[in-house]
Amino acid sequence: MAEKLNLEKSLALFEEAKRLSPGGVMGIRRPYNFVPGEYPIFIKEGYAGHIIDEDGNDYIDMLCAYGPILLGYVEPEINNEAIKQMEKGFCFSLVQKYQNLLLQKLTEIIPCAEMGILVKTGSDATSCAVRIARGYTGRTKIIRCGYHGWHDWCVEVHGGVPKKVYEDVYEFHFNDLSELEKIFEENKDEVACVIITGVGHPLNAPVVEPEPNFFKGAEELAHKNGAVFILDEIRTGFRFGMGGAQKRYGINPDLAVYGKALANGYAIAAVVGREQIMKVAEKEVFISSTYFPNSLEMVAALKCIEILEREQVAEKIWERGIEFNKKLTEITKEIPYPITVSQVPPMPFITFDKDEEGLYKERRTKFYTAAIRRGLFIQPFHHWYICYRHTQEDLEKALSVIKEALHESI
Ligand SMILES: Cc1ncc(COP(=O)(O)O)c(C=O)c1O
Repeated sequence: MAEKLNLEKSLALFEEAKRLSPGGVMGIRRPYNFVPGEYPIFIKEGYAGHIIDEDGNDYIDMLCAYGPILLGYVEPEINNEAIKQMEKGFCFSLVQKYQNLLLQKLTEIIPCAEMGILVKTGSDATSCAVRIARGYTGRTKIIRCGYHGWHDWCVEVHGGVPKKVYEDVYEFHFNDLSELEKIFEENKDEVACVIITGVGHPLNAPVVEPEPNFFKGAEELAHKNGAVFILDEIRTGFRFGMGGAQKRYGINPDLAVYGKALANGYAIAAVVGREQIMKVAEKEVFISSTYFPNSLEMVAALKCIEILEREQVAEKIWERGIEFNKKLTEITKEIPYPITVSQVPPMPFITFDKDEEGLYKERRTKFYTAAIRRGLFIQPFHHWYICYRHTQEDLEKALSVIKEALHESI
């Protein structure tokens, strides 16, 4: 085993954080989502495809802030736009023209986008799209597939969410059209919308691409039943090409939502879609927040999109992802226990399959411990990402760390 990292400062900050905030840090950033005691908790800074923790350990980061970092950390071209905007002001009682510039751009690059609304987080965007769909159809029920954020309509089984709020929400599995059809049949004329992620990415499971007729079938079922078809592109947007998963896979949604990679880390998200449906937000449906019109993130998004287009970032990452996954698959062939390698190019991942001896959890912990000790930051339960600033050397190093870590986990 490689030597344990010095995480003294991270752990001390975490102790302090626990006094100051419930659980110290929120949600998916808590230590139990990694390997407690082995992973850093507080990050000091980032550069290119790397992060440095508070103790000075440098890692190749293949979690990419859970998705926003599509280019890399600290992009001077984007930051300079943001700084210029800070000097002019970006938070006003009225909107600035950057709203129009960004929406114009989104309508040019996203196939289903005739109009849009700019918000701040992915959860804002999915909730906004669902509200528009409910307003448009005059119906209540929602069918969902995948993670769509933290708001009441999309988190089951948690404290603080009234059961009655979730009673109108039905879940089905990615690529399972018959399950979707059954829910529609059992809720005739009551479903406002179906919302589906661009690829299937449940926690702790392989990432899967859509089967050839999945989205076509979902679209037909939605429309046959008078429901709005929403595509959740929060993870796939820009990462799968400028037109997102909808362009890559030929999906034809009524509404689509974007966030994360739209501005390489600046907090902005968007709902776009068919004019006829979006227009319900002219009067009937209320959408407003103090920070929605802030322009700092809009100018960052505009610059980010310019770079993504100019350098064909998504295409290059896709190519690197194919190569990475091919090598990863080769490496895993040497391992005598069952693991599954995801094959969606920009989102590499391996899952430790349940085995008869019940050793998969122990192996997974050993693997991630060995990886973090060697300077590769990846998550045990969430797929990884390749970003544009990961160099060939970074990716080769990541593969060699993975190989060593897998062998150490046998
Ligand atoms: C597919 C998808 N939709 C929605 C969200 C919610 O976005 P946010 O965390 O920015 O609120 C996420 C976040 O991970 C996501 O992956």
